[in-house]
Amino acid sequence: MVHLFRVSKVYPPSYPALADINLQIEKGEFVFLSGPSGAGKTTLLKLLFREEETTEGQIIVNGRNITRLNGGGVAQLRQEIGLVFQEFKLLPTMTALENVALAAEVVGTSRRESRRKAFHLLRELGLKDKHDARPLTLSGGEQQRVAIARALVNDPILVLADEPTGNLDADMAEETIRLFLKIHEKGTTIVIATHDAGLLKRIGHRAVFLQRGRLMGDSKLADGEGSP
Ligand SMILES: Nc1ncnc2c1ncn2[C@@H]1O[C@H](COP(=O)(O)OP(=O)(O)O)[C@@H](O)[C@H]1O
Ligand SMILES: [Mg+2]
Repeated sequence: MVHLFRVSKVYPPSYPALADINLQIEKGEFVFLSGPSGAGKTTLLKLLFREEETTEGQIIVNGRNITRLNGGGVAQLRQEIGLVFQEFKLLPTMTALENVALAAEVVGTSRRESRRKAFHLLRELGLKDKHDARPLTLSGGEQQRVAIARALVNDPILVLADEPTGNLDADMAEETIRLFLKIHEKGTTIVIATHDAGLLKRIGHRAVFLQRGRLMGDSKLADGEGSP
């Protein structure tokens, strides 16, 4: 599903954020991208949805080399990927339902179908009574669930989450990760960047460990080396 071959990223003028990363993530895998702040986790995710371009190396996502994409290709790639962020990034003037439905509408889904999909997703994620609520009236955990519904509304094959639990207390963080696990059970490939080593230990699953832009461990390849 995701292959990185000797990927490096240098931010201008010369800051090496990622160096010589080789990584393979299979379809349907659930992977934590771990490592301390500044390790390059966010940069790696940004390369995968082409927010940033690689400096060296090749990245294949879903069979397509994304290091060579025009504007149309980038737009198509982003339709196949669901994104979840630490700060939720919900639109405050819209209801929960509208936030989710909008993400479907902007890629050409009819208004009616978009609302139908948003309705079902919010119900599935336990927000049945919150469709008409505006984000700022919801708890952090609820806001993140709306953001997760939004990430899923276009049926992505790959979900990328950048510190999705960073603004949540420990219980809510674990519940949110369990939600990702449920989504993963349906076959979606999921990559979650987190600097919270305790979370990885509690949840298990494959963890890839980055430090200063280098891939220093992978629990899939060597047990016990996936976390610091
Ligand atoms: N746009 C940028 N320009 C220059 N340096 C950046 C930029 N974005 C991130 N960096 C640097 O790259 C390194 C990796 O950052 P990041 O990928 O955000 O790490 P993490 O998500 O693991 O905390 C950090 O040292 C950061 O300061
Ligand atoms: Mg980060």
